[in-house]
Amino acid sequence: MKANIVLLPGDGIGPEVVNEARLVLDAVAAKFGHEFQYSTHLLGGCAIDATGTAMPEATLAACKAAAAVLLGAVGGPKWDDPQSPVRPEQGLLAIRKGLGLYANLRPVKAIPSLAKLSPLKPERVAGVDFVVIRELTGGLYFGQPKGRTQTPEGERAVDTLIYTEHEIRRIVRLGFELARKRRKFLTSIDKANVLESSRLWRKIAIEIGKEYPDVKLEHQLVDSAAMRLITHAAQFDVIVTENMFGDILTDEAAVLAGSLGLLPSASLGEGTLGLYEPIHGSAPDIAGKGIANPTGTILSAAMLLRHSLGLEKEAAAVEAAVAATIDAGKLTADLGTATPLNTTQMGAAIRERL
Ligand code: IPM
Ligand code: MN
Repeated sequence: MKANIVLLPGDGIGPEVVNEARLVLDAVAAKFGHEFQYSTHLLGGCAIDATGTAMPEATLAACKAAAAVLLGAVGGPKWDDPQSPVRPEQGLLAIRKGLGLYANLRPVKAIPSLAKLSPLKPERVAGVDFVVIRELTGGLYFGQPKGRTQTPEGERAVDTLIYTEHEIRRIVRLGFELARKRRKFLTSIDKANVLESSRLWRKIAIEIGKEYPDVKLEHQLVDSAAMRLITHAAQFDVIVTENMFGDILTDEAAVLAGSLGLLPSASLGEGTLGLYEPIHGSAPDIAGKGIANPTGTILSAAMLLRHSLGLEKEAAAVEAAVAATIDAGKLTADLGTATPLNTTQMGAAIRERL
């Protein structure tokens, strides 16, 4: 097949890891007889420097016209002033919203040979294999009103948590669909003991659950879910939750895998267009040193093959190559080895096993 893929390397280690993932996509194309064409665009801090805005119109237009988008990471100390009116993270939020990508899939799987990397006891990590579906374009991130005002008593800040029935319905349905393809167990995480938006969320989850009698649905409050992620994470199969809860819980969940550098994500909407990115940030402390772990981005490219291009066999081949590389003890510095591979060596080691 032919496909146009937009690359958004972004800032920090973004360009280094995206480059390795692109080489993996090229290797897939060669091996399976596909033709991928790439165009590279600006997002985040690099876009602010070049154009004054974190998401230039040209970037959004190119993404809309593409089959899929592969993103590195945005942000860095240079653009860190929280008072600044333009910030790299705005680019990320604008592109999610602009492309209508309301569903963020974050799979978390513990690799047995890396169990020692997790700060948790090995028995807490054993068997962990779940996917978090985080709602990505609603809730506190986007709700209006939002902003700051001066009052006689001092400044006042407001963020608004809104969910409509439509927004809840489509994301919860996705949760059931994914659970149906896995272990048929869906955990809907909310704060229904306090929040009205969570009570609506729970009501709709129960309603939709009636259409999926083969999937077991449970509800859990976000605070106790945060604890269960540390104590009994292997119990989870598919988690579905709102934007902010999902943001927080997925960073927590990353600890189970041992390194942030391993984890991919996919952001999906109504069609097949998706945005794929590692869940780690731009890691300014190691940027430019060539030692970043490209695995999370390469696994994101595998998700791109699966969800946007419908290339399941190819996606599975990339995932198998990553697993074989790690099993062979070929590891980057973040994976606790005395003889680390650098970014390009790790990418090459994965491609060799493809
Ligand atoms: C993430 C990030 C972003 C988010 C930030 C950078 C805006 O933390 O992708 O999880 O909060 O969604
Ligand atoms: Mn986050």
